[in-house]
Amino acid sequence: MTSKVRLCPVADVKDGEPVGVFLDDLPALAVYNVNGDIFVTDNMCTHGNAMLTDGYQDGGIIECPFHGGSFDIATGAAKAFPCQVPVKTYAVAIEDGWVCIDELGGAA
Ligand code: FES
Repeated sequence: MTSKVRLCPVADVKDGEPVGVFLDDLPALAVYNVNGDIFVTDNMCTHGNAMLTDGYQDGGIIECPFHGGSFDIATGAAKAFPCQVPVKTYAVAIEDGWVCIDELGGAA
């Protein structure tokens, strides 16, 4: 069985207000609530040195704070130029009220 890593309480992640999670041995992560569904992606934009949690969430899209690029939160797909490389997404599990991902990343 794959062990899980707890990122943050589900209750801390409000719809439209992504939360940055910074843990040892993991890349900076972003946790999102989209209409009650929880998603996790890498926090670093694939275009530059920006944290997506400093950007603007519009429904299922996260817009980078730097150059207006954006990503689909659920799939990681780049949605707006200059972002072209997808951002990594993670398979999410909810355990005991916590947002969790697989220890090894569980790329979706
Ligand atoms: Fe994110 Fe340029 S750093 S769009």
